Amino acid sequence: MPVRSNQFTRLDLGAMSGPNTNYDPVEVAVLRPAAVEAAVNDAVAAISAAATLDDLKQVRLAHAGDKAPLSLANREIGALPPAAKADAGARVGRARAVVKSALDEREAQLLIERDSAILVEQAVDVTVPVQRRPVGAQHPLSLLMAHIEDIFLAMGWRIAEGPEIEHEWFNFDALNLPANHPARSMQDTFFIEPADAGVLLRTHTSPIQIREMLKGELPLYIACPGRVFRSDELDATHLPFFHQIEGLAVDRGLTMAHLKGALDHFAAAMFGDGLTTRLRPSFFPFTEPSAEVDLQCFVCRGASVDNPQSFCRTCKSEGWIEWGGAGMVHPNVLRACGIDPDSYSGFAFGMGIERALMFRNGVRDLRDVIEGDMRFSTNFLGGVL
Ligand code: DAH
Repeated sequence: MPVRSNQFTRLDLGAMSGPNTNYDPVEVAVLRPAAVEAAVNDAVAAISAAATLDDLKQVRLAHAGDKAPLSLANREIGALPPAAKADAGARVGRARAVVKSALDEREAQLLIERDSAILVEQAVDVTVPVQRRPVGAQHPLSLLMAHIEDIFLAMGWRIAEGPEIEHEWFNFDALNLPANHPARSMQDTFFIEPADAGVLLRTHTSPIQIREMLKGELPLYIACPGRVFRSDELDATHLPFFHQIEGLAVDRGLTMAHLKGALDHFAAAMFGDGLTTRLRPSFFPFTEPSAEVDLQCFVCRGASVDNPQSFCRTCKSEGWIEWGGAGMVHPNVLRACGIDPDSYSGFAFGMGIERALMFRNGVRDLRDVIEGDMRFSTNFLGGVL
């Protein structure tokens, strides 16, 4: 067959579409009933053998595409004489319809199969426990601080805070600590360089007293929580920084009886109804008189004292627990803050919060308090009460 283009092989239509009055349909092989039937059978067999949608796509191309036997047969119909066209057209048309509906049916089936396979593959068991993000917990120190603050707020006191980087005048001088006091030494205090500038990390919360008294608003009833710093080695019972709560009241006519009443109330609110405190004579430069504050043991309440049968681990059977320091504000301190000690008097106390967390909430090792391990904090998820 001559080829008209030297680029692409093309079908020479002229050879098929020219008039052919002697046409005998039997002569066109692809239109023979047996050939059409065979093409249908081949197609149907291939269609039912197609196991996937991709297979079926290939089958559709092979048996219903442009080059499929039935499509080629269909193309031959145009060249038939009119008398033969109707018969051949009807046969080929039916054959193609059979193939098309077989394809459509199989496709619908395979779609259903694929969808249900996807449903099985991607099934989600909503009852399987999942790895959730761990729930956080407030640090027990924060919880205890907040609890202590609430106790003072309920007494009508205010919460006051001050800077952690402090000048030595507030931290020492105004508190009546002489220049040669050992607490001022480098062994106890972190000075900020240059050391002779007198700037340090506060060693206690007492400088907050000074800052508040200097504001000149009397009377004054404040609780001062905060972080303090001392150059201690870190071990199970010492931290180079820890927290304190400081109490200060300045008013007309305050006495040690008021101090004792405030401490007893604080003890009962924090450790249990009816608990009291005991004052032992002591010395602090910023108070006169000064006292050590002991807390009545909240576990045995003294019952374990001299009782070998019931040793109390909390107070070591002493009946009392060392809690903090206290006293009447020294007149020199009042004067340094511009308050006349003849008109006003004050009482003050201070205690460590980590220490309270240890004996109150059973914390054994202070390193647990600062390491930030969630397992420590989550022990106190229900609070510290
Ligand atoms: N500032 C003292 C300390 O850090 C504690 C203290 C003792 C505070 C007696 C006071 C007080 O207010 O009156 O050890």
